[in-house]
Amino acid sequence: MNLILLGPPGAGKGTQAKRLEDQYGIAQISTGDMLRAEVKSGSEIGLKAKAIMERGELVPDAVITAMLAARVSRPDAAQGFILDGFPRTVPQAEALDTMLTEKGLKLDHVIELKVDDAALVERIAGRFTCAKCGAGYHDTFKPTAKPGVCDVCGSTEFTRRADDKAETVAARLDAYHRQTAPLLPYYAAQGKLRGVDGMAAMDDVAAQIGAVLSGKG
Ligand code: AP5
Repeated sequence: MNLILLGPPGAGKGTQAKRLEDQYGIAQISTGDMLRAEVKSGSEIGLKAKAIMERGELVPDAVITAMLAARVSRPDAAQGFILDGFPRTVPQAEALDTMLTEKGLKLDHVIELKVDDAALVERIAGRFTCAKCGAGYHDTFKPTAKPGVCDVCGSTEFTRRADDKAETVAARLDAYHRQTAPLLPYYAAQGKLRGVDGMAAMDDVAAQIGAVLSGKG
């Protein structure tokens, strides 16, 4: 099964993609996570992407598409994948269509997480991640069970993303509405788009996605 989770920054794409990865044994492919790894490693791509990401703008299509093509070819994606943060522009979606056709693959579902802009800022501002194992948390919506200790690995070190500052979030939302929202009619025209209420609690959103994947949504 190959699917896309589509939605604005903070909509819950990463949260739901991780659950789907565990549930279905298919690979979560997050272009944001891949870019952050490039930035951390100081690679050529990372050096170019860092300033763009910190401004809340999109990295050029050619860079992202080449990165994605290499990632989709890795063995763990052979059983299927969840694209989280890709595509983000119509040219990226067109490149994905071509890539899948060349590989004899198809997209099964495109799921839009619908969330009000006002809720996104609160979600993003409260987000933090375990520095050791990468488990994701939220100050209000998903705190650690024991304050300051990761539930998964017990680490006491956490990080917050450089692009989660309020002014950058506004730029990311603007980029979503201008460059990514046109993908909604693009996939609706292919008959693949399904919307779920991303304002619901995390378990409810997961249940709505499950219904779509089982053909009941
Ligand atoms: P990326 O990393 O993809 O960020 P994003 O799309 O802005 O999405 P986020 O990761 O911020 O949010 P999310 O929807 O995954 O929400 P999450 O599950 O964490 O991209 C970063 C940057 O990289 C871009 O700005 C761009 O520069 C570049 N980039 C990446 N891909 C690119 C591409 N294809 N082309 C060009 N440039 C690209 O949830 C957020 C918080 O809310 C969490 O704390 C979570 O616990 C909480 N939460 C989740 N669901 C719920 C719920 N239902 N109720 C309450 N809280 C919830």
